[in-house]
Amino acid sequence: MTASDGPLTGRVAFITGAARGQGRAHAIRLANDGADIIAIDICGPISETITYPLASPEELAETVRAVEATGRKVLARQVDVRDLAALQQVVADGVEQFGRLDIVVANAGVLSWGRIWEMSEEQWNTVIDVNLNGTWRTLRAAVPAMIEAGNGGSIIIVSSSAGLKATPGNAHYAASKHGLTALTNSLALEAGEFGIRVNSIHPYSIDTPMVEKDAMMALFAKHPSFIHSFAPMPYQPVNHQGKKGLQEFLTAEEVSNVVAWLAGDASATISGSQIAVDRGTMKY
Ligand SMILES: NC(=O)c1ccc[n+]([C@@H]2O[C@H](COP(=O)([O-])OP(=O)(O)OC[C@H]3O[C@@H](n4cnc5c(N)ncnc54)[C@H](O)[C@@H]3O)[C@@H](O)[C@H]2O)c1
Repeated sequence: MTASDGPLTGRVAFITGAARGQGRAHAIRLANDGADIIAIDICGPISETITYPLASPEELAETVRAVEATGRKVLARQVDVRDLAALQQVVADGVEQFGRLDIVVANAGVLSWGRIWEMSEEQWNTVIDVNLNGTWRTLRAAVPAMIEAGNGGSIIIVSSSAGLKATPGNAHYAASKHGLTALTNSLALEAGEFGIRVNSIHPYSIDTPMVEKDAMMALFAKHPSFIHSFAPMPYQPVNHQGKKGLQEFLTAEEVSNVVAWLAGDASATISGSQIAVDRGTMKY
């Protein structure tokens, strides 16, 4: 299948946090399915409370290269989801360039670790301002353009298993991701009359730079009871059986399969849903 006859041909997708990790995988997958892409990422440090490096401008350039290799067009820009005016500007420029906006993948996010009563205000505020407020700003910028384009569309909000269950050691992150579940379901009701569907995905344990194994192991060593909330995945794919140990991570591309399904017409009856992407782990 070429980009000219994919299920998303003629559509335009806006993806935040697209320089690497899951965001890049979603950009490439939706472009492979035929969509033109508006890709943004902060591409720089945000706060000392985030202890792993965020994406670089070179990584965003690599996303551009990979999207263009599919034959689709891409508008990429360094934008912080804490900056509403910049989000509105890139959406306006994208719609001017590509003519419409159909799909939003609100994916940018950050993570840090600590107990509730031991975090600094900056640690709390950084996670809430990027994950929750930043997603609201993304929607604030994108939904009017989708309504104006008049083609309906699909919004995929990247929450987490931490958006549906307790996660000791990152309560600020869980609070932000639970907030996204509420935002998803309210927006599904508000935007439905415009033909816009809104769903959240709840991934668990994806192999990206956000997952700092050493930081997690240090937390579990200090607070062994927390480990019960981070269970191994119960369902193991057949092609992994017989290999040493359990498969601990999903790939970003496996999440992209779900995003592509939610973006396209095959999921036309699905709105206001929380889709777990976790091989059944939420059922523990
Ligand atoms: N990795 C996991 O196990 C996992 C599990 C569940 C949910 N998630 C969620 O998936 C999403 C993608 O994360 P990932 O795993 O690909 O990690 P990642 O760190 O590789 O990707 C996150 C991207 O967001 C960007 N970003 C951060 N703050 C930003 C801001 N203020 N403005 C714009 N861009 C910003 C980063 O530069 C980075 O490129 C996040 O929302 C994360 O919370 C991840």
